[in-house]
Amino acid sequence: VYPEFVKIVEVGPRDGLQNEKEIVPTRVKIQLIDMLSTTGLSVIEATSFVSSKWVPQMADHTDVVKGIQRVPHVQYPVLTPNIQGFQDAVAAGATEVAVLGSASETFCRRNINCSISESMLRFEEVISTAKDRQIPVRGYVSCALGCPHEGHIEPSQVAEVAKKLYEMGCYEISLGDTVGVGTPGSMFKMLQKVMNDVPISALAVHCHDTYGQALPNILTALQMGVSVVDSAVAGLGGCPYAQGLSGNVSTEDVLYMLHGMGIETGVNLDKVIEAGDEKLKLDISIKVIPKIHIEMTS
Ligand code: HMG
Ligand code: MG
Repeated sequence: VYPEFVKIVEVGPRDGLQNEKEIVPTRVKIQLIDMLSTTGLSVIEATSFVSSKWVPQMADHTDVVKGIQRVPHVQYPVLTPNIQGFQDAVAAGATEVAVLGSASETFCRRNINCSISESMLRFEEVISTAKDRQIPVRGYVSCALGCPHEGHIEPSQVAEVAKKLYEMGCYEISLGDTVGVGTPGSMFKMLQKVMNDVPISALAVHCHDTYGQALPNILTALQMGVSVVDSAVAGLGGCPYAQGLSGNVSTEDVLYMLHGMGIETGVNLDKVIEAGDEKLKLDISIKVIPKIHIEMTS
């Protein structure tokens, strides 16, 4: 039994663009987000309040948050790895944030320069400060289906990190296949474990598509009751601290599958395609193949 409605979390402007070597002009980022805001998407991850020395592409985070035209009922979360990022985000006007947990020690260190247990202390500070200001916090668990450095990651390790983030107050936990190495088999095993510790309604899946497994992995998650899916317009994406991976699953592909299955999303596929096309005009380094609209009559 599949969920009747699936919430799409569009991560293109953040996860999609963070890996681009050429700096995308701020106005183009804003334009992309503004176009996505008219598609029916309810969540658009806008940028990251991380160090510009680490991720130069996200250095214009404040201008992006200030420059977008907020549409009512659309959330624009931003990544905040620590309290400094959180405070900068709030000063810029962000009203929702996300913390970057990891199920892999090595990835955690390479990504945010601290151990998993240190990261939890940092997130606790962010989450408790956010609670005082009534700012919702989303939690990521990277490397949920494998790590670029450590390889296999035990589902119990994913469950432990997910549970901690949930108990600390994250309203939703996004399980990230950071390198896109999962399969329906490993997705099933991992979710089975995590579901014991975190309610399924609070779980999201975040799939990268390195081996073309993202859609089957998402389908597996839907079968298990997950109803929140992260994706990126035009399949943009990648993490600068995970070499050799490909983009996020494309929002267009996810919508096409869900709508074809009769699952509602509230998102207009054609408008997302248009926003993706707009992005293609940017002439940025990642090659993306535009989707075409085919009218399917049954
Ligand atoms: P650090 O160097 O360990 O930080 O970086 P520090 O606390 O030791 O401070 C050193 C300097 O950084 C200081 O400046 C701080 O002010 C500054 P200095 O005195 O040298 O001039 N600093 C900051 N600057 C801006 N924003 C901040 C901030 N914090 C400290 N928030 C830090 C720690 C986390 C900042 C760094 O490691 C970093 O920025 N990492 C980048 C993380 C990132 O963006 N990764 C990619 C996203 S994760 C991802 O893609 C996976 C995901 O999609 C899920 C999946 O696919 O699985 C989410
Ligand atoms: Mg990602």
